[in-house]
Amino acid sequence: MKLKKLLWQIREALRFYFQASTIYNIHSPLLFSILKSVYLSDDLPQAELQKNFRNALNQDNELVSEEVGAGSSSLSKNTIAKAIKLSSSSYRKSSFIAKIAQAVQSKTIIELGTNLGMTTTTLSYYNPFANVHTVEANDQLLRKAKAFFINSGIDKIHTYNKYFQDFLNTDFGNIYPDFILIDGDHSYQSTMDYFKLIKQKRIAQLCLVFDDIRWSKGMLMAWNKISSDTDASVVVDFHNLGVVLYSPNSRNQIRCKIISHRLKPFNLGLFAK
Ligand SMILES: C[S@@+](CC[C@H](N)C(=O)[O-])C[C@H]1O[C@@H](n2cnc3c(N)ncnc32)[C@H](O)[C@@H]1O
Repeated sequence: MKLKKLLWQIREALRFYFQASTIYNIHSPLLFSILKSVYLSDDLPQAELQKNFRNALNQDNELVSEEVGAGSSSLSKNTIAKAIKLSSSSYRKSSFIAKIAQAVQSKTIIELGTNLGMTTTTLSYYNPFANVHTVEANDQLLRKAKAFFINSGIDKIHTYNKYFQDFLNTDFGNIYPDFILIDGDHSYQSTMDYFKLIKQKRIAQLCLVFDDIRWSKGMLMAWNKISSDTDASVVVDFHNLGVVLYSPNSRNQIRCKIISHRLKPFNLGLFAK
């Protein structure tokens, strides 16, 4: 079963590779400014803070109390030290996400899936004026993440020890986000349910980021549906991440798959798709 899934993931990665364009094939100023921010700007030096916290968690042999949602890796019966490797984003990945939030000038951010707070803090570093609302059902993970937020001196992070569904049906009513990261409970049905609840709010200017869109056939199916939303102005498929931007000021609809120029350096001039 695992081998079958792996072969499917490799096939999908190859399909993505051959279809993808790079930043240098993009003509839309809005999309180019987002891609310039994620690919061409330097990372912030705060990575050091996360490195220290990661090092501390790497020694943490407490068992993870429960596994919540359909995840990319099974956490139950594993230690926190293992959880940080299996389910937390790297600084590189969380910086990529945080730079998208920065490029669209986010002021109010929601993260579904705090885990140990790696992306939460990175979102805050890159968007120091934004309030970051982060949701996690596992209270043990959230407790550790909160300790990290306090040690980092960040005071604009608001935590919710809830299931995503509960949060979206209650607290979400009082928050007006311009950026939402959906990073947990990676199944077709859950992803579609969260998307529908978010869309019901009819937020005019909103950037949605879905993680792990090619983790399973179900996630890719959800992404294919979400990315065909005709209300969206810009839809970018970054292979693992899917970004959907709603913007009343943008007239043209843009749909594309984007890969780093480093991985497809010959995709220029005559060779461009
Ligand atoms: C992949 S991890 C998030 C990683 C984190 N955003 C990062 O970048 O480091 C997913 C997290 O979502 C939580 N989760 C999964 N399904 C959930 C649900 N339905 N409600 C609340 N939390 C959930 C899991 O406990 C897990 O910690």
